[in-house]
Amino acid sequence: MTNNPVRAYIQRRVEGPLLRNMGSQKDYPICLEIGCGVGIGAQVISEQFGAQKVIATDVDPEQIERARDNLMPEFRDKIEFKLEDAMALEEPDEKFDAVFSFGVLHHMENWRRAVKEISRVLKHGGEFFFEEPFRPFLKNYLVRTLTAHPEGGEFDYEEFKAELGENNIDILNMRRISDIAIFCVGRKK
Ligand SMILES: C[S@@+](CC[C@H](N)C(=O)[O-])C[C@H]1O[C@@H](n2cnc3c(N)ncnc32)[C@H](O)[C@@H]1O
Repeated sequence: MTNNPVRAYIQRRVEGPLLRNMGSQKDYPICLEIGCGVGIGAQVISEQFGAQKVIATDVDPEQIERARDNLMPEFRDKIEFKLEDAMALEEPDEKFDAVFSFGVLHHMENWRRAVKEISRVLKHGGEFFFEEPFRPFLKNYLVRTLTAHPEGGEFDYEEFKAELGENNIDILNMRRISDIAIFCVGRKK
């Protein structure tokens, strides 16, 4: 459902600028994206967040292949696509200035494991940019009928905030759309 030009437009024109403005406005030289899909987010990170290097990862080999095929020549030195599970990242500790999840944690069988991994690979003072739907959205009849999500990817705001805290990530800024979804920037202590 996300592999289409409308999704790409929203990522470029809405989510990128919104999240950029919610962070601390600095540049983020080395970035990680989890669940990169067809690779639009990695371009947004490179263009809008001052990234010199983006490691963009996904657990699905077909998505990684699509992302590599879509990569425009001007990004070849800056973006690297890798097959990696966000619940068991292969990246070293404290490598990244920022980590991005554009609608990915709710696809995890265990979203808490992914948050732990994100905290592990973030530098101290590094920022975690994400947008995610909450449990009531995923439980909606239409959403359940039209899409498939694992139960381990469900959370509400209080659960999510507590898990960030457990992993030394403070909420720096957030926009919450009722109990439906959240746009948020966290910072690792
Ligand atoms: C809803 S799509 C979002 C894609 C892209 N970030 C976007 O915003 O268009 C979720 C992506 O997360 C990936 N994904 C699911 N579980 C994952 C995991 N455990 N580790 C890494 N990626 C995962 C899927 O393969 C898919 O590409």
